[in-house]
Amino acid sequence: MSTKVWLSSLGRPVDPQDATISVFDRGFLYGDSVYETLRTVGGRILEFDRHHDRLLKSAAGIGFEVPFAKAQILDATLQTLAASTEAEARIRIIATRGAGPLSLDVRGAATPQLIVMVQRLEVPAQSVYEKGIAACLVVPAHNRSPLSGLKTGNYVANVLALRQAIEARGDDAIMCNAEGAITEATTSNVFVVTPHGTLVTPALDGGLLSGITRAMVLELANDLGINCEERVIWPEELRQAAEIFLSSSVRGVMPVTLLDGEAVGAGVPGPLTRRLRAAYVEKLARISRGES
Ligand SMILES: Cc1ncc(COP(=O)(O)O)c(C=O)c1O
Repeated sequence: MSTKVWLSSLGRPVDPQDATISVFDRGFLYGDSVYETLRTVGGRILEFDRHHDRLLKSAAGIGFEVPFAKAQILDATLQTLAASTEAEARIRIIATRGAGPLSLDVRGAATPQLIVMVQRLEVPAQSVYEKGIAACLVVPAHNRSPLSGLKTGNYVANVLALRQAIEARGDDAIMCNAEGAITEATTSNVFVVTPHGTLVTPALDGGLLSGITRAMVLELANDLGINCEERVIWPEELRQAAEIFLSSSVRGVMPVTLLDGEAVGAGVPGPLTRRLRAAYVEKLARISRGES
């Protein structure tokens, strides 16, 4: 495996053991950073522009003006991909506010740091997509975080939700906002197929990440003439869903066939989930061939 890391302090990709940053970096101390997870298809970066836009949106959400130009971030990513020997890569782009004194005051951080990590892309085995995964509903005990919908370095709420799901023998957690409405899974968006066959996903104003795969799935659903709604989903509706699936850059379209130990629909990936997964896989294949 050939993992490579690019650091703005070095200006070139290096091996992981040479990629060191200060323990005074605010990303480490306070989660004062933003990031994106991307993937390649056929060696091409998937949806770089959308990921870049979202990186800037997350940064704006924490009042962090990223001083790295889009072309510089793209160039660093391409350099890191070229240095890695992986055929298909998982890419993480991180911008931190940089190192400073031990103080919450952001004015002490003078030099933001850009980090690009490239690793082999590990996607779940085909058998996992055929069987589906088990999810658990996790209800937070806190008010809506000001960080909801932003991809910052502070993912502890999601870390805890995933831990809770794993303790309950689940593979992932589906989370709620303070009002109790469904938001998203720990690193994915959530889609539900109602018993009447409507595709529904939580609206973005519920406090969730504007997933790039979510947007692609909505576009594909539209192309296929599938009726789709973005609105509030309450836990009761989730429990009565005919189908549930998750969407993310790394896992693509992932069926959920168990919810809190109960079968979702027939307990196997449903027809709409399979149709959308096939359409998504086909879209990636087209991008990989340079066709769209
Ligand atoms: C909390 C959360 N929701 C949704 C997603 C899915 O986003 P995308 O499709 O852009 O990978 C992610 C991805 O990292 C995430 O962390």
